[in-house]
Amino acid sequence: MGSIPATSRGLDAAPRARTGSTKPWWRDAIGYCLYLRSFADGNGDGIGDLWGVIDRLDHLEALGIDMVWITPFYPSPMDDFGYDVADYCEVDPIFGDLQLVDRLIEAAHRRGISVIIDLVANHTSFDHPWFRSARMDVSNEHRDYYLWADPGPGGSPPNNWVSYFGGPAWTLDSASGQYYLHLFLPQQPDLNWRNPMVRSEFDRIIRFWLERGVDGFRIDVAQGLVKAEGLPSNPQRASVATLTSRQDVWAAFDHRYDILQPESIDIFAGWKRICDEYGAVLIGEVSVADPEAFASTIGTNGLDVAMWLEPLHVPWDADELRAVLRGPIDRIVDPHAIGWLGSSLDEPRAVTRFGGGQLGRQRALALATMLVFLPGIPFLYQGEELGLEQSSVPADLRADPVGDVVESSRDGCRTPMPWSAGPGFGFTEHDSTWLPFGDHVEADTVSAQRGSSGSWFERYRHLISAWHELDGLNGSPVDWLSFDEGDLIGFRRGVVAVVLNTGTQRLELPLTGEVLYQTWGDGSGKRQRNAHSEEENVILPGQNAMVIRLDKVGPFSPTAAPA
Ligand code: GLC
Ligand code: CA
Repeated sequence: MGSIPATSRGLDAAPRARTGSTKPWWRDAIGYCLYLRSFADGNGDGIGDLWGVIDRLDHLEALGIDMVWITPFYPSPMDDFGYDVADYCEVDPIFGDLQLVDRLIEAAHRRGISVIIDLVANHTSFDHPWFRSARMDVSNEHRDYYLWADPGPGGSPPNNWVSYFGGPAWTLDSASGQYYLHLFLPQQPDLNWRNPMVRSEFDRIIRFWLERGVDGFRIDVAQGLVKAEGLPSNPQRASVATLTSRQDVWAAFDHRYDILQPESIDIFAGWKRICDEYGAVLIGEVSVADPEAFASTIGTNGLDVAMWLEPLHVPWDADELRAVLRGPIDRIVDPHAIGWLGSSLDEPRAVTRFGGGQLGRQRALALATMLVFLPGIPFLYQGEELGLEQSSVPADLRADPVGDVVESSRDGCRTPMPWSAGPGFGFTEHDSTWLPFGDHVEADTVSAQRGSSGSWFERYRHLISAWHELDGLNGSPVDWLSFDEGDLIGFRRGVVAVVLNTGTQRLELPLTGEVLYQTWGDGSGKRQRNAHSEEENVILPGQNAMVIRLDKVGPFSPTAAPA
């Protein structure tokens, strides 16, 4: 499976830094975001855990995954379901223990799958011993691990920064009379990354996990970390008085001082030096919409891979899709450093965003086809391979701390995986689950789909295997095709063309060649020529994508095909 040599994937305990290799082991990998609480429940309490992951690894192997990113498993009060860490070098008993992490890494490596863990570095939990002692005593050495400031005029917050989760980014600590900063929940105080002690703590944490054999890190909120000296207010672009969504309030400010400070690069560089000793990869979540700012986090001294989140918000609109695909590709020196996400643990699933039902599924797969074949690492989000829709979660069962506004609740994309039909959907033996399953039917389950020709699982599997068979296309650059306009988005990389038709009309493309993959039918493309004879041009139905091994690229424009 795949293009990644087994020896580079951590089969040995020995460091995996390779010499003489032209490409790093993670190049051209297919990633998968595993949302731990909802993947599989191995101990029967209704919450996913590490036992469950170990039991179900064959699912990832069957799909063709090279790299799994596991969401946080550290001890946590779970105010933000693990993104509020109380101990960075332990495992929450809900999920298992350290020995289980070792077993998981070993089991994954045996299947050729690398394990990336989530490093929540922008903030800790307010329950972390550092914050507890910081709060208890202003002279404590941990006080300066966090960002404290005196109140502004009239006791107001020190500046105008807002939390990603809504409301001010400051909470008053009445004992000391100072405010502390939190870009997320008040239970997630931000660390002071200008304090060298914080840096050495994290160097130690990173080594701890590398020694246990993890293959790399996904740095949570990598655009955060360092804040501007003096904590100045951000310029405000628009009034927030009438805004209700947290995303709109965030967007009303020019985030000049709270995120993306140039000093963060030093931190990445330091982590990279450590990761290099172990041949591990440094991947960051970089939540910014501007491709230039995004690109600034990547490079020899920066992140190996930065996750580009814009496809998570994009509507089914050719121009907008084109912009989010082209943006980073055209702006980044090495586009292999892009991590692509079409769905995630934080946003409504693409299927639902693109209209739901069969049409939504078709469109989500078509976008995934582009993401898999563009340079960089695509991360499928758990359940995407089953064509799952967003689940509806009734008000009294909601769990997301920012889920009070239904549209922005993250619960609907985090419901448990449906493995097989029947009560508990093969996810659990327990009579209830931490979030309800939603409206899943038997056809949504892994057992119904695996091995069933034309199922979503099989179509995603074919997509990934078509990619693996091309062995990364030798790193070929992207050439946007001349007919990349109107409803059509298309690029050529080496011997293939990848085309997406966002419209409803079938289009005849000025291309001839062998179809290696198509999103419709059984997905396989059956390795047949697309058209009836070798001379005929390729036909692409609306709302679909395909991959063609090119004979030649013609100079003419696409025309509507006879129905
Ligand atoms: C990231 C995570 C999200 C979490 C936030 C705060 O964006 O993906 O789930 O709430 O960071 O840690
Ligand atoms: Ca469990």
